[in-house]
Amino acid sequence: MNFKTLGEFIIDKQKDFPGSSGDLSRILSAIRLASKIVSQQVNKAGLARHILGGAGSENIQGEAQQKLDVYADERFIEALNNRGNVCGIGSEENDDFIELNKEGKYIILMDPLDGSSNIDVNVSIGTIFSVFKRVSNVGDSVELKDFLQPGTEQVAAGYVLYGSSTMMVYTTGNGVNGFTYDPGIGVFFLSHPDMTFPKKSKIYSMNEGNVKRSSKGVQDYINYCQEIDKSTNRPHTGRYIGSLVADFHRNLIKGGIYMYPATDKSPKGKLRLLYECNPLAFLTEQAGGKASDGKERIMEIKPTELHQRVPYFVGNTSMVEKAEEFIAKEN
Ligand code: AHG
Ligand code: MN
Ligand code: MN
Repeated sequence: MNFKTLGEFIIDKQKDFPGSSGDLSRILSAIRLASKIVSQQVNKAGLARHILGGAGSENIQGEAQQKLDVYADERFIEALNNRGNVCGIGSEENDDFIELNKEGKYIILMDPLDGSSNIDVNVSIGTIFSVFKRVSNVGDSVELKDFLQPGTEQVAAGYVLYGSSTMMVYTTGNGVNGFTYDPGIGVFFLSHPDMTFPKKSKIYSMNEGNVKRSSKGVQDYINYCQEIDKSTNRPHTGRYIGSLVADFHRNLIKGGIYMYPATDKSPKGKLRLLYECNPLAFLTEQAGGKASDGKERIMEIKPTELHQRVPYFVGNTSMVEKAEEFIAKEN
């Protein structure tokens, strides 16, 4: 067993930046703490009636909020607020960004509970987060422009997966590392050092109910995935959980592509640039993969809205490039 804990790992990494304020380490520790609290609730969701089902409210995107969406949102905000070095948080569950400590240097963007339609059916869900340095002055009120930075400016990003075990996977721009939670002692251990997409990849993940609602390029690519061709090891294998974070995690470990393209129902795609696509794009590039909107690099998109949606193609570079090839051909 590897006895390196997430706490030790964070401290060790901080030593690589002599003179650092330790702010980023404190933020990662806050996320670790909130994720333990959320993990505990997720694990007993079937027993705890107060945590299952709808909250009776909608978020700004008109989606029904689940009680656990709201619970997770509150716990992450509280934990991050307590550390004092975060000046604002943008969350899927809040229409507008929230201002925290004016003296804080960092802002957070997060999807506190991703895959919430899977809560009541005991299927993996997660938390996705992204950390930026503010661009406004320390001491002033945080502004929208602090949140609308391109993904290339992220200083850290990651996710917590509440699956068959709870895992935290994150990057600070120096590779990707994964930690598995031991609930008996309340500690995350380094279980997946230096994560990279495997060379061979075979999985394609898309809500195939949307295929006929997608562009010709996407339809052609799905046909390509399903074609039988021994020399290229096709057909590929279809896998779709319906929790982005869980689909992403599986593909990172096993090799594959996740797609949520534009459809005639969601012409801009469904997933949110700032707290779903950008953080996973940062992890992807750090793990040797590629993330695009079908044409352009996700991390270079200049955001215009907090809850902006974007078509999303993410995973092994070769698979994402093949999808892009079909998309380019349709024009
Ligand atoms: P959230 O639960 O945070 O609103 O995100 C749901 C997202 C994502 O997790 C998932 O991949 C996708 O919605 C599934 O959408 P479909 O049900 O349309 O396939
Ligand atoms: Mn989500
Ligand atoms: Mn969510």
